[in-house]
Amino acid sequence: EREIKVGLLGCGTVGGGVWKVLAKNRDNIQKKVGADITVKRVLERDKEKAVAAGVPAEIITTDINDIIDDPEIKIVVEVVGGIEVAGEFIHKALKAGKSVVTANKDLLAVQGRELYELAEANNCDLLFEASVGGGIPIIRPLKECLAGNKIEAIYGIVNGTTNYMLTKMTNEGSSYKEVLAEAQAKGYAEADPTSDVEGLDAARKLAILASIAFNARVSFDDVYVEGISKITARDIEYAKELNFVVKLLAIGKETDGKIEVRVHPTMIPVNHPLASVNDVFNAIFVKGDALGEAMFYGRGAGELPTASAVVGDIIDAARNIIKGVPGRIGCTCFDRAGCSCFEKKQIK
Ligand code: NDP
Ligand code: HSE
Repeated sequence: EREIKVGLLGCGTVGGGVWKVLAKNRDNIQKKVGADITVKRVLERDKEKAVAAGVPAEIITTDINDIIDDPEIKIVVEVVGGIEVAGEFIHKALKAGKSVVTANKDLLAVQGRELYELAEANNCDLLFEASVGGGIPIIRPLKECLAGNKIEAIYGIVNGTTNYMLTKMTNEGSSYKEVLAEAQAKGYAEADPTSDVEGLDAARKLAILASIAFNARVSFDDVYVEGISKITARDIEYAKELNFVVKLLAIGKETDGKIEVRVHPTMIPVNHPLASVNDVFNAIFVKGDALGEAMFYGRGAGELPTASAVVGDIIDAARNIIKGVPGRIGCTCFDRAGCSCFEKKQIK
């Protein structure tokens, strides 16, 4: 019987969710993949946290080499977050010929190019569906299902924390501080929630989406960013009086070969579909020349929704390993200067 072994780096909100989904749906996944997918080792410095998620204490380690040096481990899932250490872990895993699944948009935004080159050089997959939209499938639909379109616009709500906060501030009159603490307690916020409230997380996600959608190299620095930290209860009240709601939007457009990318709070009429995207939900509109408009909607953060996307990537990587074709999607980059499949486009 086939078995694909996984090394899980990080067992916090997302890592704990990945463990739970793989355990709960093990039989089902085995039937779909034709192999048993098991987590052999978990890297986590807070052992109790991992044990609380159901991980047996004996497979928990604090030494990355227990995973990198284990030839049985074919897939490494990076959900520790941050840049330096996570980057080092992914480098090591790819160099060791292991496929990598990550939810780390911060890292992809700065080291994406290098990591994709490394993945290609080692014939490994580098998959990152969970990096945008939490549980919503959006990266693969853009790369694959919608590849026949010329994408004209991609826009929507891509940060769960700020949407949760704005929803509570609008509907319940809750204070900014109080709702931020709630979003943190629910596991939606980044380790440093400044990324969420200042719009940086949304800008990183928009850079990833715009690069794929417009087949261009769009980096985080290209995005105009304004977060929600200056939004007051009074702004929300005024908007309400005018039949508007305030949402943090990420907007990407291509017009006459020029790309525009921006993230900022926006007043939305109450009858617009985005106005009723509440709580931790995200919604991403894609406008393609053949498709017209489509909306991708679902939970944009949190333990199990994010794990759903990560596990989907693990399954994809496992299937490629079984077929002997890891890296089959070919160029998976969004930030490769040297990649010939990207056009040079002007960013407004
Ligand atoms: P958490 O902080 O909940 O989990 C990360 C875990 O990794 C923590 O338990 C942390 O321990 C542990 N860890 C960090 N560094 C090390 C290390 N060097 N060695 C061992 N253990 C380590 O974060 P999340 O699960 O929320 O997020 C993980 C990643 O997923 C991030 O990149 C985030 O941006 C991304 N993401 C998160 C989503 C969410 O809804 N939360 C959704 C989509 C993406 P300690 O607590 O001690 O630091
Ligand atoms: N902090 C992020 C959010 C996690 O709130 O959307 C999902 O990427």
